[in-house]
Amino acid sequence: MSHFKTEQEDFWAGQFGDAYIDRNWGNTLIAANTALFSKVLHQASQPVKSVIEFGSNIGLNLKALRGLLPEAELSAIEINAKAVDKLKASGDIKVYSQSILDFSPDYQRDLVLIKGVLIHINPDMLPVVYKLLYETSKRYICIAEYYNPTPVEVPYRGHAGRLFKRDFAGEMLDTYADLRLVDYGFVYHRDGHFPQDDLNWFLLERRQ
Ligand SMILES: C[S@@+](CC[C@H](N)C(=O)[O-])C[C@H]1O[C@@H](n2cnc3c(N)ncnc32)[C@H](O)[C@@H]1O
Repeated sequence: MSHFKTEQEDFWAGQFGDAYIDRNWGNTLIAANTALFSKVLHQASQPVKSVIEFGSNIGLNLKALRGLLPEAELSAIEINAKAVDKLKASGDIKVYSQSILDFSPDYQRDLVLIKGVLIHINPDMLPVVYKLLYETSKRYICIAEYYNPTPVEVPYRGHAGRLFKRDFAGEMLDTYADLRLVDYGFVYHRDGHFPQDDLNWFLLERRQ
């Protein structure tokens, strides 16, 4: 029997999560992530010396960030064991092999990143995840997800109850009064050089 709290966690820890890894790897994705994060970091006026990614998969975002922030401490929280093995093999990432929903913030990082993960969290658990993102951040939070002004569920590769779009960043801004919106943007899947999967990104900052 699963020890996870939600069926969405079982989905990512299991076979679907394993197959996702086989579909999503390579330098082209890292290049697109490098373009995205160079834009995001450009808006961060304060130094970023530590980063933690919630739901990092095999680390394609962290590899891009390693290129941009060679000296930064990088950490990852990941539920899928096969992805965790690959993260650990990279050698320079502190890995939390667990569900985000079981994570207890130990120390704050300059930048907390979540990309393509809030959309897959059971919507009932979003307040828990928002609190974890907020409490783990010393200054910046980057949310890169699928936006919709109102919460909607859409089928995900033939599965129901696995993909939810909404205004995640707006909900965090409404919840935490000391957060401010630094910048936001969209990356189109038809971008000629550095496509993403029609992602909306938001950079939030905790007012000091
Ligand atoms: C669509 S992938 C995105 C991966 C990565 N963030 C990126 O942008 O390439 C979703 C990732 O989140 C992980 N994940 C989903 N739910 C999780 C949870 N509750 N705790 C930790 N990781 C989770 C999955 O295993 C998977 O690696």
